[in-house]
Amino acid sequence: MRYKNLTLVGPMGAGKSTIGRLLARELQLSFKDSDREIEERTGASIPLIFDLEGEEGFRIREEQVIDDLLQERGLILATGGGAILKPANRKRMSSNSTVIYLHTSVEHQLERTARDKNRPLLQTENPRKVLENLLKIREPLYREIADIIIETDTRAPRLVVQEIIDQL
Ligand code: S3P
Repeated sequence: MRYKNLTLVGPMGAGKSTIGRLLARELQLSFKDSDREIEERTGASIPLIFDLEGEEGFRIREEQVIDDLLQERGLILATGGGAILKPANRKRMSSNSTVIYLHTSVEHQLERTARDKNRPLLQTENPRKVLENLLKIREPLYREIADIIIETDTRAPRLVVQEIIDQL
């Protein structure tokens, strides 16, 4: 089978970057992470971009990067948890890639993001509440654009990768 692009969507801590990297190695495709691409292009960290330009400024940069990267072929793209918010991103992802939603519980998200200072939206007293609220808004959008939905909580990354390959 010839793979077109694969886009990984899902909330913070779902394992998009880890799974994406492994999947790229297995399928011998290239891997990009939209957050890392934004950091490379700007020379600034995600928290600094949020500080200087706010979330809206970050979203504009995110849209540009997703649009650019999905012009390529044979790419595995890990996106930030909020990338599905913009209709233009959803359209680009759906038309130029197979979209994989990595589903995870808030419990696992918390475990994986607890000590991470690199996620500005979680630098709050109550990250659990933030994650729950974000998921309420975003879950229908992840599901709306997903071609494949994979549960990541109960499986090791290698098995998640195998399941994705089986479903392609
Ligand atoms: C965000 C998720 C982050 C990053 C930014 C905003 C979000 O990416 O894009 O901090 O809105 O959920 P990860 O999902 O890779 O943590």
